[in-house]
Amino acid sequence: MTTGKILAIESSCDETAAAVVTRDLRVLSSVVSSQIALHESFGGVVPEIAGRAHLEVMEPVVEAALVQAGASMTQPDIDAVAVTAGPGLIGSLLVGLSAAKALCLAWGVPLIAVNHMEGHLFAAQLENPNVAFPAVTLLVSGGHTEFIEVRGPGHYRLLGATIDDAAGEAYDKVARYVGLGYPGGPAIDRLAQGGNPKALKLPRAMMGDGLDVSFSGLKSAVIRAVDRDDQLELADIAASFQAAAVDVLVAKAMRAVDLVDAKTLVLGGGVAANSELRRRAQEACDEAGIACALPSLAMCTDNAAMIGAAGWHRLAENGPNDLKVGADPSWQLEMEVLT
Ligand code: KG4
Ligand code: ZN
Repeated sequence: MTTGKILAIESSCDETAAAVVTRDLRVLSSVVSSQIALHESFGGVVPEIAGRAHLEVMEPVVEAALVQAGASMTQPDIDAVAVTAGPGLIGSLLVGLSAAKALCLAWGVPLIAVNHMEGHLFAAQLENPNVAFPAVTLLVSGGHTEFIEVRGPGHYRLLGATIDDAAGEAYDKVARYVGLGYPGGPAIDRLAQGGNPKALKLPRAMMGDGLDVSFSGLKSAVIRAVDRDDQLELADIAASFQAAAVDVLVAKAMRAVDLVDAKTLVLGGGVAANSELRRRAQEACDEAGIACALPSLAMCTDNAAMIGAAGWHRLAENGPNDLKVGADPSWQLEMEVLT
């Protein structure tokens, strides 16, 4: 079945997405409908609003993905449906999972439950099929900051993680405090480009210790600095915060690379769209003589193509799931842990 096609569905947070991905990981279509505008005025994702919005756009998004791939609801030409079953918001996950189950029943094809984080780990492979292993993936999103050794598809070891806030969470909280709205990451990224990264003296926590990171102290230090001095330029706040966050992420990522003798550093997750993180990661990899896989911005943030890629792997490894499979809002990806 070399020409097989998976329809993938993603609805774990605030993007409703569908994609068609072939067995050899060609993306025939990838449609993403963002809810950012709906949540903006609340300063963050409101779970009830997210669930309802997924419900409204799920069908047109799936239909658009099929049509862009040259198929349709009645002539789907699809061999399996992959869907994010966790982690994420329960109400949002259930919309995608129920849609996927209904399509499996209607079309008589198997269901594959995919872990959202495994999707992010597969995203780089869609654009860089020749990623050399072992790789270290720095997974940085609104809910995660993890350094993961990837020995090959499906073989993961957790090397380090945040002990408190995720990097994206720190970006969003700092942005909200200084009135930049939601999501804060892109706004800080833009503003930082015109600011002085040395304007505020900010901590680089746990730099000397292992591979874990901490962002809650950095976030509090920015808030204290802003409270102390209301004359600070927004651009300088953004640039200083970003410099501190990126210093820590890149230093730890390169320490992880050294530890496992990685051939590639891969970035994944929404914060991997950050221009300064991308620039500094590339620079550090060039210096170390290893490859740096930087997925396109669309592949860093939530999408269904990455769920399709992980879905093919799960289908080959574990076979299809029973249609009774449930959503798991705190589903932990199975990984070895560095001891
Ligand atoms: O992976 P993602 O789309 O959703 C999950 O959290 O799973 O990541 C969203 C996060 C948000 O915290 C957002 O502020 C952050 O990624 N983000 C960025 C940038 N673009 C998105 N953070 C820093 N710089 C960016 N350019
Ligand atoms: Zn995500």
